[in-house]
Amino acid sequence: EKNGYDHFMLKEIEEQPRAYRDTLRGRIDEDSQSITLPDMMMNPEHIREIKHIQIVACGTAYHAACVGKSIIERMTRIPVEIDVASEYRYRQPIIQEHTLVIAVSQSGETADTLAAIREAKLSGARVLAITNVVGSSVAREADHLLMTWAGPEIAVASTKAYTSQLIAFYLLALYIGQSIGSMDLAARAQLLTQIKELPDQVQNMLGHMTQIEQIAEHIAGYHDLYFIGRGLDYTIAMEASLKLKEISYIHSEAYPAGELKHGSLALIEDGTPVIALATQEVVLEKTISNIREVKARGAYVIGVAFEGNMELAQAADEVIYVPRTDALLAPAIAIIPLQLLAYYAALARGNDVDKPRNLAKSVTVE
Ligand code: M6R
Repeated sequence: EKNGYDHFMLKEIEEQPRAYRDTLRGRIDEDSQSITLPDMMMNPEHIREIKHIQIVACGTAYHAACVGKSIIERMTRIPVEIDVASEYRYRQPIIQEHTLVIAVSQSGETADTLAAIREAKLSGARVLAITNVVGSSVAREADHLLMTWAGPEIAVASTKAYTSQLIAFYLLALYIGQSIGSMDLAARAQLLTQIKELPDQVQNMLGHMTQIEQIAEHIAGYHDLYFIGRGLDYTIAMEASLKLKEISYIHSEAYPAGELKHGSLALIEDGTPVIALATQEVVLEKTISNIREVKARGAYVIGVAFEGNMELAQAADEVIYVPRTDALLAPAIAIIPLQLLAYYAALARGNDVDKPRNLAKSVTVE
């Protein structure tokens, strides 16, 4: 079932263009340049009522939620809160009238996420599930369903399920945006064009990733490393850091780039690898000054940026370039080399990539 691949994880990374196409299929109406989500069964009146959104999820699905928050707020101006599902019900969340709760779960069986759904429903919230498994507990308990079509994910480290969740969030944000009229038609059409290009862009990129193996061998010799970025780049950093920890067992942390100097900069030593995400060009100058701060303390900086970003090439020691897209779509492209980086770093350390120690694919205890 590995289709000639050594590991499910690599197979699943390479399946991402297909997963994007399947998750998009039938959901973009070309004539009206709009999104149709009939299976979600949430009509425009329901959508127009939404005043607040809360998203609950665990692990990688939580990192998709971080992206979801950012894009829903940008496209719709509806305030969005995000919670790690295991924290949600113990913080006595304020669930007002017209709150939509979105639960994100690849397996649909995560106990903490289910508990959060039950808490939300008790308070009368409408619950929408984003899940990859038809008929799963999360799918059954939610009021509305937005499926991701990543196909079965076997490796413990989530890859194609995460990026499919991002695609689901782009569709949802655009759908809410068109229902409440928060986005002009030209902006929507422009974003749709770029979303439709993502599968081919990812496919082309996957054929040109030889540089990643050599970077992975370099970082495999370190005990600690840092991922930094601002805005959506910080959300990518969080997911990249989790992926690396989970399978390579190298300690890493993700920081908003501007936050390092408030304490953690003290950890940077000669040679410490720092992976600097710099796809968000509105904050590029700021990110570059943060790169200079770590370099001045001896860090070895690996940048991640859109093709053509020459400023980063000057500031960093080396750069991983990814195909250019809209800044809002960056997570769906820039995470991919970092999934591969985790994969090759785990291989370089001789780890069991698909079944990392101490972890289970589906976490059914709270
Ligand atoms: O099935 P779920 O999406 O609910 O799982 C949530 C997390 O357990 C999961 O994403 C976990 O963090 C992954 N192993 C990360 O790669």
